[in-house]
Amino acid sequence: MAGPGTPSMKDVAARAGVSLGTVSNVLNKPDRVSVQTRDRVRAAIEQLGFVRNETARQLRSGHSRTLAYVALDSGNPFFTDVAEGVQDAAEASGLAVFLCNSREDGGRQDFYLDMLEQQRVEGILITPTDNATDRLDRVRKRGIPVVVVDRDAGPDFCSVTVDDVAGGELAATHLLEAGHRKLAYIGGPMTIGQAADRLTGARKAVAAVPGAELVVLETAALNVAEGRRAGERLAGLPGSRRPTAAFCANDLLALGLLQRMVRLGLDVPGDLAIVGYDDIEFAEAAAVPLTSVSQPRHLLGRTAAELLLDEAASDPAKHRHRQVVFSPELVVRASTALRPGT
Ligand code: RIB
Repeated sequence: MAGPGTPSMKDVAARAGVSLGTVSNVLNKPDRVSVQTRDRVRAAIEQLGFVRNETARQLRSGHSRTLAYVALDSGNPFFTDVAEGVQDAAEASGLAVFLCNSREDGGRQDFYLDMLEQQRVEGILITPTDNATDRLDRVRKRGIPVVVVDRDAGPDFCSVTVDDVAGGELAATHLLEAGHRKLAYIGGPMTIGQAADRLTGARKAVAAVPGAELVVLETAALNVAEGRRAGERLAGLPGSRRPTAAFCANDLLALGLLQRMVRLGLDVPGDLAIVGYDDIEFAEAAAVPLTSVSQPRHLLGRTAAELLLDEAASDPAKHRHRQVVFSPELVVRASTALRPGT
């Protein structure tokens, strides 16, 4: 309740000459109050400097006016683009958004889920670090809807994803059609479903071309530093065993690999063609503009938030979970090119 000296709803009611219930309606259901009364109450709020006590309101209603998005890596522009889509949909409904960063760590993810439950947020959007469906189911059973972003979580959750198997197949097919037969896949850890699904798609494409082979360089994370390390590993292979093309699980890995290739004096695409994934803004701006599998990042976030708001407003007994799947697209740039003689 209001502290000593801070004006309360009772003070506003007394100043405006109305009941406490009328002040509450002006704050929460203004269409139930006449314009004259509404203006009188708002004038009293202004004169007294009253600020509604969100904590008290939250205790009464059981929920705060916020959504939360737990991203996998807020250092990756992919997730900041997704988060903007979430914010646009949430703000259109008068809700704020807590942005949390699990940094691909399950323990940190659980910490944020616990904190968000205590904050009684209206709903949680999450790109999980691994198969967290049991943990997310417990959150939902305690009354907070959950929508999974960028991962398929099965029929018991609303989710919004891009078909990553198709995306991996797109990337590898592009390299095979450019004449490459010795490809590398750079990505991981494979507990991250996106990395595993993209590899599945690449394997499918390679298996369809006689004589083609795919070497997998699993990484500890999906970031620039791991891309640079993969570049060291590739450059260290004898020429006869070195792939002529690399498909990276995301653009950050591809940018790190590209940076290392340039640092080692190797040509991209001449010595190594590179394909990334996400088509973040820096893909096109790279020293050698990056071919990348594009994802509709803002649309992913906005669609996921709209599903969450729909579920939060629904009767749980009548709500039907939806799994929305978008298709990836390949954006071809200078980091891949036809091999000489093809
Ligand atoms: O961080 C994991 C990756 O999966 C991101 O780069 C993006 O591609 C997401 O789908």
